[in-house]
Amino acid sequence: VFTEGVPLVVEDVPRRSAAERAAVLADPGFGRHFTDSMVVARYRAGEGWVDARLTGYGPLQLDPSTAGLHYAQSIFEGLKAYAQPDGSVATFRPESNAARFARSAARLAMPAVPHDAFLTAVDALVDADREWVPTGPDQTLYLRPYMMAVDPFLGVRPASEYLFLVIASPAGAYFPRGVQPVSVYLSEDYIRAAPGGTGDVKCAGNYAASLLAQEQAIAAGCDQVVWLDAVEKRWVEEMGGMNLFFVLGSGADAELVTPELTGTLLPGITRESLITVARELGHPVTERKFSVDEWRAGVADGTVTETFACGTAAVITPVGEVKGRTGDFTVGNGEPGPLTMELRARLLDVQHGRVPDTHGWLHRV
Ligand code: COI
Repeated sequence: VFTEGVPLVVEDVPRRSAAERAAVLADPGFGRHFTDSMVVARYRAGEGWVDARLTGYGPLQLDPSTAGLHYAQSIFEGLKAYAQPDGSVATFRPESNAARFARSAARLAMPAVPHDAFLTAVDALVDADREWVPTGPDQTLYLRPYMMAVDPFLGVRPASEYLFLVIASPAGAYFPRGVQPVSVYLSEDYIRAAPGGTGDVKCAGNYAASLLAQEQAIAAGCDQVVWLDAVEKRWVEEMGGMNLFFVLGSGADAELVTPELTGTLLPGITRESLITVARELGHPVTERKFSVDEWRAGVADGTVTETFACGTAAVITPVGEVKGRTGDFTVGNGEPGPLTMELRARLLDVQHGRVPDTHGWLHRV
């Protein structure tokens, strides 16, 4: 059952051979290959969710006037399924994705996908395509639930018809260079999010609006853009599509700071999980504003020893060099820091079921 009164119809899906699968899983990359199935559900105002099915992965037929393609009434989520040591498959904190998806939908004036329907759809896809969950080191099945307006109508208004879909993509490392530190460019010409905007939800437009700044970062010789707050251009907010952490001090006494959720940051599930994991390892974590000045001065006087970004796709990525109009600096010796690597290992151990799941974060499928 997708939701009350609406069955999740499971179709007989064409499947690729074991050999074809193995060829993909040998080197999946990120977001390039997709599994055999997908979930599609349709919503109509006045009727609610009317049709939900697990069907073969394939192109959608959309009217050229499809509202979502014009006005970006479109939201998404990202989560992963992990092969567990006992041969089972588990997703990581899918309830948190369901909750965030609901907040994103509300902000974009879209209908709610009921919490249980979201979880049912994700589970059904993972279950149908469990043979696509890779088992190589740090490999996962990346899951992409999303919803878009599909009214064939060019008036600007909330649509009356929507599609909710879930697709799945076997994944290796998000960044081709793996866990090597990235260089970042402090964006002063462009902002990601402003107060009252959509920065705290996962809508398609946020990512479209980030691309030019990312190109500027690359033109400046950097890997990634770092976003500052829109008002003062003083506070560090995010890196690309990831949250940031700063390590103050070192060894057992090291503390972490992560920018507080002011309403212009995306509340990352990896961010929240790392706050918990770090505290358990004995490292205090403070959520507060953190300025570029504090970052630069802290690096100069040795207070700030490490910086890393985190997200579902890339897990943890160390930040090495920082460039901007007001000067460049290097965090630590530019190599991945010890706490960065410890937290990364610890989180991956939980996700891959190599240590006890004391928080109930894993959801067996
Ligand atoms: C993440 O998982 O960190 C992201 O948000 C990136 C994703 C859009 C590929």
